[in-house]
Amino acid sequence: MIGKLIDLIGSRYSCRAYLDKPVEEEKLAYIKECMRLAPSAVNRQPWKFRIVRSREGREKLQSCYTRPWFNGAPLYILVSVLHEQEWVRADGKPHGDIDAAIAVEHLCLAAADQGLGSCWVCNFDARRCRELFGMPDTEEPVAIVPVGYASSADVPPKTRKALHELFFEE
Ligand SMILES: Cc1cc2nc3c(=O)[nH]c(=O)nc-3n(C[C@H](O)[C@H](O)[C@H](O)COP(=O)(O)O)c2cc1C
Repeated sequence: MIGKLIDLIGSRYSCRAYLDKPVEEEKLAYIKECMRLAPSAVNRQPWKFRIVRSREGREKLQSCYTRPWFNGAPLYILVSVLHEQEWVRADGKPHGDIDAAIAVEHLCLAAADQGLGSCWVCNFDARRCRELFGMPDTEEPVAIVPVGYASSADVPPKTRKALHELFFEE
């Protein structure tokens, strides 16, 4: 298959081992811009992105997701949904989580494009995170994404369902 996008998508993987090396400001700026440009329902942009690099901030996040590998990342981006701003469909379905997911994947692809590793993390203690970062009830943390240089060149194989299991002509 030809195309740069598929190469980028193919190169992104969940990186769970990081070098103790800071992320350059230009690379972080590139990631931020890619997140800012993400689409959202009715263009509400119902999100907040916290760049967490300080020792205090890192320790707060690390107490919400206690896996040794997670501690090694030089920075994290904490993504939250602002429920007061999200679009809600007529049948009551809120769309903030969908919007946030798009921004997070922009983040991960932008990081890969800059030669950086990243990993979606949703299995964290969201209640604790909300408290530690002083979020109001209308704000919900949905993903923590560590970002940094991968400490290994080994990229795990992509295990995915086959096309015929996923796509159907109707
Ligand atoms: C919504 C979402 C939540 C995830 N949460 C976690 C998590 O809490 N911890 C973790 O180690 N990986 C997490 N992952 C990473 C997945 O395990 C990973 O994307 C999947 O196994 C496919 O592997 P790949 O990303 O290397 O292609 C999450 C991924 C997604 C999309």
